[in-house]
Amino acid sequence: MNLIPVVVNGLLVWAEPGATVLNVAQKAGAGIPTLCHHERTGTKGHCRLCLVEIAGRPRPEPACATTVESGMVVNTESEELTDLRRTVLELVALETNVEHDVKMASWLEEYRADPGRWGDPLSGRREREPIRDNAFFVREYDKCYNCRRCLDACGEGIQGVWALSFTGRVAEAAVTTVFDLPLTESGCVFCGNCVQVCPTGALVPLEEALLAEEAR
Ligand code: SF4
Ligand code: SF4
Ligand code: FES
Repeated sequence: MNLIPVVVNGLLVWAEPGATVLNVAQKAGAGIPTLCHHERTGTKGHCRLCLVEIAGRPRPEPACATTVESGMVVNTESEELTDLRRTVLELVALETNVEHDVKMASWLEEYRADPGRWGDPLSGRREREPIRDNAFFVREYDKCYNCRRCLDACGEGIQGVWALSFTGRVAEAAVTTVFDLPLTESGCVFCGNCVQVCPTGALVPLEEALLAEEAR
């Protein structure tokens, strides 16, 4: 395979054609934060946390959803990128219960995020009650970042069942089942793939949820 030259943060690297900017930048040692991207599910381009600058392009692009090109010059760190990432993190933290998420806490600190500057949450997501409608896992959507990994894992990414879907739009978008049915009445086959790929702990194995409840 003929590798192609790409410059990441001033460093020349040789990339496989078809690789994403994220893969190549990570191999070059760049620390790009990601929320939605997952190799197994194919999820990419939703959260906008991985934005990078590419020479000649008018605006930052998501590294996880951009394919490298020969001679591409990528920059992963700048004041503008820091501001953009801070905003993404603030809006997630404003709308979502992130108290349990250690990684999110470290990003919020690293990017000096202040979610309160955006006022009150719009989505009501923090108020969503846990849904316990099956014997395998609980859906605690107050912790959900709307990353879509579970949808992709359930659908064409892994399982091919499409039991999950999105309801609402923009700030009010939320994960649910098709027609908001209990999972037991959806097409769910309880494969657990969605639980495996959820990055936030919003989908919790029942046993774990019960232990956590007992400990409270
Ligand atoms: S457990 Fe159910 S909802 Fe989750 S991926 Fe499998 S089939 Fe889909
Ligand atoms: S439940 Fe988990 S995997 Fe699904 S959208 Fe929310 S955070 Fe992502
Ligand atoms: S990780 Fe790239 S857009 Fe979410």
